[in-house]
Amino acid sequence: MNAESKQQLYDGVSQRLKNLIAGETDLIAVMATAACELRHAFDYFDWTGFYRVVEPGLLKIGPYQGTHGCLTIPFEKGVCGAAARLRKTQIVPDIREFPGYIACSSSTCSEIVVPVLTSAGVLVGVLDVDSDRLDAFDKVDAANLEKICLMVGAVHLGG
Ligand code: SME
Repeated sequence: MNAESKQQLYDGVSQRLKNLIAGETDLIAVMATAACELRHAFDYFDWTGFYRVVEPGLLKIGPYQGTHGCLTIPFEKGVCGAAARLRKTQIVPDIREFPGYIACSSSTCSEIVVPVLTSAGVLVGVLDVDSDRLDAFDKVDAANLEKICLMVGAVHLGG
């Protein structure tokens, strides 16, 4: 998919999500809606979902679309843990080359994980998107998923 078509799909997702979550102040409701919209917009998205910070240094699974994910991820483990610990988007073009990768599905080849921060900079969770294609994610995905995570993080503060 070229960058322009990808951007158009993301623009559609962002607009739909904005409309769907207008006035919503429940974080889980918004995460569930974002996971659903993303999963169905892109044919190379196999698993889309959130892990939530439930105590310092610990993530628990949140709303997702796809086969089951592992329930608990400490900040020291996996791509999700790295994104939470470093508070920075992680793009992994080939999961076989990521030390400490947590395999939830044997079909996953690449993934991107984006931190969800409030506008005050509090980490509330991460968004994980997995693909069964190698090298599926680039800077267009990163920029747009970061924008979506800003919308999600803003809801946590009550809009
Ligand atoms: N692969 C992730 C774990 C979550 S699942 O893929 C749904 C990781 O290494 O953090």
